[in-house]
Amino acid sequence: MPNLLFVKKSVEQLQQEASGIGEAHTLKRTLGAFNLVLLGIGAIIGAGLFSLTGIAAAHHAGPAVTLSYVLAGIGCAFAALCYAEFASMIPIAGSAYTYSYATMGELMAWIIGWDLVLEYAVGAATVAVSWSRYFSKLLDSFGVQLPAVVMMSPFEHQTMPDGTIIHGVVNLPALFVIAIISLLLMRGTRESATFNAIIVALKVGVVVTFIVLGWQYIDPANYVPYIPPNTGVFGQFGWSGILTGAAIVFFAFIGFDAVSTAAQEARNPQKDMPIGIIGSLAICTVLYVLFAHVMTGLESYKNFVGEAAPVARAIAKTPYLWLQQAIIIAILAGFTSVILVMLLGQSRVFYSISKDGLLPKVFSDIHPRFRTPWKSNALFAVFVGALAGFLPITIVGEMTSIGTLFAFILVSLGVLILRYTQPNVSRAFRTPWVPFVPIMGVVTCAFMMYGLPWDTWLRLVVWMAMGLAIYFSYGAKRSLLRKSALSNT
Ligand code: ALA
Repeated sequence: MPNLLFVKKSVEQLQQEASGIGEAHTLKRTLGAFNLVLLGIGAIIGAGLFSLTGIAAAHHAGPAVTLSYVLAGIGCAFAALCYAEFASMIPIAGSAYTYSYATMGELMAWIIGWDLVLEYAVGAATVAVSWSRYFSKLLDSFGVQLPAVVMMSPFEHQTMPDGTIIHGVVNLPALFVIAIISLLLMRGTRESATFNAIIVALKVGVVVTFIVLGWQYIDPANYVPYIPPNTGVFGQFGWSGILTGAAIVFFAFIGFDAVSTAAQEARNPQKDMPIGIIGSLAICTVLYVLFAHVMTGLESYKNFVGEAAPVARAIAKTPYLWLQQAIIIAILAGFTSVILVMLLGQSRVFYSISKDGLLPKVFSDIHPRFRTPWKSNALFAVFVGALAGFLPITIVGEMTSIGTLFAFILVSLGVLILRYTQPNVSRAFRTPWVPFVPIMGVVTCAFMMYGLPWDTWLRLVVWMAMGLAIYFSYGAKRSLLRKSALSNT
């Protein structure tokens, strides 16, 4: 009898599932290469660029934060090349979950599928809370103030100028943004992609404007020394500072992997998935390096220490102060598209898991007309909305990072395993320099995971324990693959 915990799906079976043959209601294939690149940029450029560049420059790398971005970009490229091979070979919405099902078996697949909830659903909730903060800042600048009670969760409070303390009831703007985006996702993937394209144009437009306008006001003296000497402590400037800076700005790159969850909605996934994944990462890396170059050229990195809004400080060195408002709009647009792509990715991963019988069928019911997993979108709107509206989400960015890095490691390992176990399966895109690239993917991600604080690890362990309890009490009993494996023995 096969060991059912490690029962694997065959690549041929997955390729047949991807084609959707024999199914009445499947996801609708509407996305081309351009949409996929935009989806990637939508998920990648969020708060990371605007909030982390100043921190990494001030405390770790100085002007060489540009090199931190290059390093983090190369680290992500290893994983992106592996994702590209899988997404073109097994274009299924489950992404890392499905790839693990084919390479490491059901238990590992479930673990990674459960882990992705951290990246996508919890990530979306966190971003929604931050969205709400910037939204109120924007309203403030127009002289509009929402009552504090509807801007915070019940666990938070705010001290007013006259000393009175106001307790929050619900974070309404966070709930609002989740609800609107979820409705859009239910309505259709094509509609969601169009909306995403508009906000991506907005945020990329602001980033490019900052680079072009700021370039003329760069003071070359701010680049001396380009790599400030190490202070004697690992990670404080020098080459070790560049490395630490890379681990910090890694967060800004998260998102390119979400493109792979749209594989079943791509018109030509074999060709377009690699373009979407690698293209969006490449474009964002170039933008990030240029942005960091201009920012540290406008203002000395030393003046970013303790500065709450380092980008605004850099802009103050130019005559274009309206750029400060534009940056807030870009951040809001960035957050909105990150939430959109994360919620899309989450429902698609659960769609695949549910199709395999490991989760209830409600997660894979497709709307007959809109052809989206609308019930799943609705359930996640409630779950993510509850997290965002009523819980004090002290930035769980690190949870998002650890969950993502874990997925990257498994995907890189998976490419390596499948090259040896199934060398002859056709691969529309082949990761170059195997085994070097996948091994480097594992090493760089493991290194970054190692750098995360122990309480993040602890939360990961608790989350996984919950996941295992669900698997053994529900999924293991209903797994379709296990059933067919048993009936074949
Ligand atoms: N990469 C996304 C951001 O920077 C998660 O917000």
